Amino acid sequence: MSDGKLEIDKEREAEILKAEAELYPPSPETLEAARIKDVEAFYRRSLDDLAGFWEEQAGTLEWRRRWDKVLDESQAPFYKWYVGAKTNIVDNALDRHLKTFRRNKLALIWEGEPGDTRTFSYQSLHREVCRFAGVLRSMGVKRGDRVTIYMGRIPELVIAMLATAKLGAVHSVVYGGFSTEALADRIEDAQSRVLVTADGGWLRGKTVNLKQIADEAVQRSGYVEHVIVVRRTGQEVAMEAGRDYWYHELMSLPIALPRCETEEMDAEDPLFILYTSGTTGRPKGVLHTHGGYQVFTSSTLRWVFDLKDEDRYWCAADPGWITGHSYIVYGPLILGATSFMYEGAPNHPYPNRWWQLIEKYGLNILYTAPTAIRGLMRFAESWPRRYDLSSLRLLGTVGEPINPEAWRWYRNVIGGGRTQIMDTWWQTETGGFMISPMPAVPLKPGSATRPLPGIVADVVTEEGKSCGPNEDGLLVIKRPWPGMLRTVYGDPERYVSQYFSTFKKQGWYLTGDSARKDADGYIWIIGRIDDVIKVAGYRLGTAEVESALVSHGAVAEAAVIGVPDEIKGQAIHAFVILRQGVPVPLEEDLKAHVRKEMGPIAVPAHVSIVPVLPKTRSGKIMRRVLKARALGLPEGDISTLEG
Ligand code: WTA
Repeated sequence: MSDGKLEIDKEREAEILKAEAELYPPSPETLEAARIKDVEAFYRRSLDDLAGFWEEQAGTLEWRRRWDKVLDESQAPFYKWYVGAKTNIVDNALDRHLKTFRRNKLALIWEGEPGDTRTFSYQSLHREVCRFAGVLRSMGVKRGDRVTIYMGRIPELVIAMLATAKLGAVHSVVYGGFSTEALADRIEDAQSRVLVTADGGWLRGKTVNLKQIADEAVQRSGYVEHVIVVRRTGQEVAMEAGRDYWYHELMSLPIALPRCETEEMDAEDPLFILYTSGTTGRPKGVLHTHGGYQVFTSSTLRWVFDLKDEDRYWCAADPGWITGHSYIVYGPLILGATSFMYEGAPNHPYPNRWWQLIEKYGLNILYTAPTAIRGLMRFAESWPRRYDLSSLRLLGTVGEPINPEAWRWYRNVIGGGRTQIMDTWWQTETGGFMISPMPAVPLKPGSATRPLPGIVADVVTEEGKSCGPNEDGLLVIKRPWPGMLRTVYGDPERYVSQYFSTFKKQGWYLTGDSARKDADGYIWIIGRIDDVIKVAGYRLGTAEVESALVSHGAVAEAAVIGVPDEIKGQAIHAFVILRQGVPVPLEEDLKAHVRKEMGPIAVPAHVSIVPVLPKTRSGKIMRRVLKARALGLPEGDISTLEG
């Protein structure tokens, strides 16, 4: 893996070597407050008896019927957890809290971009969820049906997810920043009959036409019979009689009863599908289930962010991605925590927005992505300094490697030098945190430290040998864990080939990341080994962006790569070959087309029109060569290039 290393990889290497020597132990106060003090012993104990350990974790939750067996490996890699158990994640996320003091505790504090606010106690969130479940049921939604949800960061998104789960149906949330083709593909793959969306969403003072995008996507995909529309912006939208209904009107009908029974599910029944990109082809529907996922998200959240009942916790991700599913919706609700959610962008109208919110609500934990940190770091320190951020106890980051400089700024300027930073490495597929510190772990800036209890991770060579200290290799997970994906929706073969074929003999899960382990066993993530690009922490596949480009009438062929970007981590650079005999399109037209089909996050920062693309003799695009070209670097060995 060392050959063909580009300058940019060498930069990360130099950064790692420098940061490796820095150590940030927890302060005596942090250690005192930490729930798990002897991390080492906790980890060892978990591995002595893996099934016993996960059984103990499951014991913190409510089950309608206990499992006969914790882990069934007989059909590996199709693992089963808590076999025979009956449950519903909503029992744990909502229903059980109504029997305790948490009934009156705030589950969700929400602020909209224009400054409007709403709060929900556990009792009132439960009530809204029941009422909306009644609405969905009246539309024929039942156990196993898929419901697609497409909207911005508003409470109804959370309500719709929970209502779907309550009925035993399967939600498929599509990020509100995606556009027509991305939404249509996901509706089609899930074959959803019901779509829940909004008239629009607020973004930097403007509104996004969600309903209009949804209409086009519904037309293209052809499964949806009912569209439920939340009124958020109040903008003019077309409503199709007999198909489209206003959320608030449905919620005022007698079908929206304040009580609704929670469907009893098998631990292994599907809870949701979340689409994510992989090496090739269309996005995959990663499938998670009720039982293992509820244990995994709640345990990992308790260990890493050490949530206390009096905390106010803010995960600034979007519920449309896995981070939001696990750590805005399910994890915090299962723990009975108070979550904060904000609709808008961090720097609109000014770069003080987040700091203002932390002060206003006295938030104790902030969990976000390196791209947001770098974006806010650009502005003068006087922006955060003007606010009282002393309520912050812990900070977190996720989505891509965090450069040590941003790490230090986050800890010193935002955390006042007091807060430890939980750099959590995980994936849509893993369901929850896998490699991450806990508050009592000494930190090195830019390393996610070590695997969590119950997780057996390693860095190995392509032959499957454990790498030596500081040797680059493939990051693998050697034992199953309760939060792991169970399959790729509708494509079990892809599940096996994508994740379990590289180390078939050993039965290891291939993460798709390269990494290295230092002499202390700390893991440093280097980056993806496949064609996944992380733009501002958002996971995009090259294939999906390329197909959006090729759907433009003037484009014959396209290849996209990720190039380094100071704020976003990576930006997209597209290379396109034009069709002959068509007028040459403007770069702006191509960008606008991608925006319309895929969404703003997929828009290339640069488009180069080229006569040919570098390919291997077998026709595979040589992205390494394109990358070198885009960065003006030597192209390295191109001997396999097509003649
Ligand atoms: C990357 C997001 C370095 C990694 C939860 C992984 C990270 C991919 C980190 C999954 C981190 C995530 N440090 N890289 N702390 N967290 N990644 O599915 O490449 O959107 O494979 O899940 O993000 O992205 P996904």
